[in-house]
Amino acid sequence: MIRRHGRRSKVAVLVVAAALVLAACGARGAGADAGGGADGGESFTIKFSHVVTPATPKGQAAERFKEVVEERSGGRVTVEIYPNSELYGDKDELQALQSNSVQMLAPASAKFTTVAPALQVLDLPFLFDSVEDIPEVASPDSAVGKAIYENEALAASNIKVMGLWDNGLKQLSSNTEMRTPASLAGLSFRIQPSDVLRSQFEKWGASSTPLAFAEVYNALQQGVVNGQENPYSNIESQNMHTVQSHITESNHGYIGYVLVINNQFFESLPPDLQEVVQSSADEASTYNREVAAKLNSDARTTIEQAGTTTILDLTPEERQAFKDAVVPSVWEQYADVIGPELIADLLADQAAQ
Ligand code: LMR
Repeated sequence: MIRRHGRRSKVAVLVVAAALVLAACGARGAGADAGGGADGGESFTIKFSHVVTPATPKGQAAERFKEVVEERSGGRVTVEIYPNSELYGDKDELQALQSNSVQMLAPASAKFTTVAPALQVLDLPFLFDSVEDIPEVASPDSAVGKAIYENEALAASNIKVMGLWDNGLKQLSSNTEMRTPASLAGLSFRIQPSDVLRSQFEKWGASSTPLAFAEVYNALQQGVVNGQENPYSNIESQNMHTVQSHITESNHGYIGYVLVINNQFFESLPPDLQEVVQSSADEASTYNREVAAKLNSDARTTIEQAGTTTILDLTPEERQAFKDAVVPSVWEQYADVIGPELIADLLADQAAQ
């Protein structure tokens, strides 16, 4: 009896020891690698997860970030990119970031709604009238940019903002011609998980269902929802156009990405590598802005050539009718969530146009 008890204790000690070794390996795997970099210093791996294909504005910017950071760090930082929700999807990627299972993400603003609801500022319908307005309004120095960089809820969640990336302006797709807000009445649209977006569709008389990006194609194909909203690059790269007979070029909303890193991981990097990671993120942000508009116009051409989908261009008056149904009402509805001063500033800018 005593001997058996003794053996059990030994086994227990071994199990605990093995668990500690595994935990230590796990911690190393999550960022810091055993062994030296090219110059003998400690080396690090950044796992960068995202939900779109490598061919999109976000996918391309992530590739550029990898290229630049690996080159500038002389091999001390390696970036592993996991596109297309293959490692984590919309529902678990922020959790994975906070637990350091991945170190970087670039989710669309709407994906932060539960962690930092004020980021829905980028989801406000008709925040931009054209892609040319994006760089000024969504730059790190603008009122909108500052609200994101200085967001306290993100900081409190161990999330550091490294940049703002674009996809572009969203178009509406469904299997019905959509020329007026009234033509959306009774349709159901997939949305990203954002209250602002739910209210936008409500004002147009449509219902909405939040679904992860990876689920959208199947949901459209199986008729779980009638339509969705996205820039052309996302529609084309997920083949959504093959199951949507109509697109309205409404340019009614924006998909902007917040490039983020696990703050504890970032702080654990030596200062020279922190500088390399930030400057590489800056370069990737510039590159992203250079390619986003072109990738979207190429995607529109591919959709036209596929012949599956009629694309409707709205007249300025028709677009204005969509806008009048949601601005300023939806903006004012979310003033408390986004920040009353910021909303007042944005409304004043609108009035000045
Ligand atoms: C979506 O869910 O529609 C987009 O946020 C996907 C993306 O990352 O562009």
